[in-house]
Amino acid sequence: MRVAMIGTGYVGLVSGACFADFGHDVCCIDKDARKIERLKAGEIPIFEPGLDALVERNVREGRLSFSVQADEAVRSADAVFIAVGTPSRRGDGYADLSYVHAAAEEIAGLMDGFTVVVTKSTVPVGTGDEIEAIIRKANPNADFAVVSNPEFLREGAAIEDFKRPDRIVVGTEDERARAVMNELYRPLFLNETPIVFTGRRTSELIKYAANAFLALKITFINEIADLCEAVGADVQQVARGIGLDKRIGNKFLNAGPGYGGSCFPKDTIALVRTAQDAGTPVRLIETTVEINDARKKAMAGRVADVLEGDLNGKTIGVLGLTFKPNTDDMRDAPSLDIVPALQAMGATVQAFDPEGHEARQMLAGVDFKAGPYEAVEGADAVVIITEWDQFRALDLDRVKQLMKSPNVVDLRNIYRPDDMKARGFRYSSIGRG
Ligand code: UGA
Repeated sequence: MRVAMIGTGYVGLVSGACFADFGHDVCCIDKDARKIERLKAGEIPIFEPGLDALVERNVREGRLSFSVQADEAVRSADAVFIAVGTPSRRGDGYADLSYVHAAAEEIAGLMDGFTVVVTKSTVPVGTGDEIEAIIRKANPNADFAVVSNPEFLREGAAIEDFKRPDRIVVGTEDERARAVMNELYRPLFLNETPIVFTGRRTSELIKYAANAFLALKITFINEIADLCEAVGADVQQVARGIGLDKRIGNKFLNAGPGYGGSCFPKDTIALVRTAQDAGTPVRLIETTVEINDARKKAMAGRVADVLEGDLNGKTIGVLGLTFKPNTDDMRDAPSLDIVPALQAMGATVQAFDPEGHEARQMLAGVDFKAGPYEAVEGADAVVIITEWDQFRALDLDRVKQLMKSPNVVDLRNIYRPDDMKARGFRYSSIGRG
């Protein structure tokens, strides 16, 4: 199959490289000429484990190419994927569809023969209808079908998620499009991956419902964690105790500083807007959004608590800035709330993150260090915000020796309270009362 992938952001690049690895012929297209040049030179603009090798191999073997021009790739494509960004629209939280609409306009004039136009971008219910109308208007004779095919990739595990997904969701009522989608994902059917064929609007909603449910699940365990602290219980044991019930499931029950990232925050708000417009508000999700925002802001207070409420003139060492490990993504990371709040309380912040280079532009006044030990040196307290593997097995005696006072606030529960106490730390974590 021939695939044109419009957009070489996170989703487009991973999906394009993985489709090529299945044996399809893929051209990834982006308007950003510099980015395309870098990709052609073998430079991967994002940090995603395994992606560089996957891209390199498929380019070398002739199945994956990059271009700023959509013409040729779209003309010859069986399927054109729209994988451009749908950020939160400034001010109102609706998904900004301008890139999606522009992509539809562009594709319309280029298609040749029956073409399946697939939305991979996360788009609100009804966007498929809009794309169809745009293409129909621009090119009344075009032979095409618009399909919704949301992605469920997690950053940091995206290749694994693409190649071994729990399910594939395809929203279309067009038989020819269905056949094309079946062929594209055929390598996965061999692994017996379930494929859920639905109507297009249903498929669009599945994506938002999935992310909102996961955000809700995290928020639920975060509130239970607060309760655990108040009543002297252990949230990790509660999570295990409920998670073994298959109806609940043990994933996404890790309490922490609140969810962040490029998806949950924007998708929950977009779903709230869609539901309000439809006259059926999703109050659980509205509340989830509120609780999570407040939680991220409240986390600095936990650091103040271990220092008797006074951060004035104190030095805080921060370990981890990205919204989760194994990514360089800083979007809506809890650190973006926590670090400025620490500074506002009078603390000086020194920080280390293995990949969060963008933090340098986003967090003013922070002393960025070259490694974890440098970041804890001289600190009155250390706060672990992101659970990078390399923070899980620090030489704790060295850490203690380097710190001014041995206070550790572990917002990801990567250490054990008894252990930390035995080593002489004053240790605070989440939901372990
Ligand atoms: C999320 C979904 O997991 C993917 O299925 C989806 O495809 C993607 O959004 C998307 O819409 O593109 P991602 O944002 O990469 O993926 O990251 P997650 O692993 O879901 O983590 C999101 C946030 O929740 C992080 O800040 C993480 O630290 C937090 N989290 C996650 C917790 O606090 N506790 C948990 O148990 C799990």
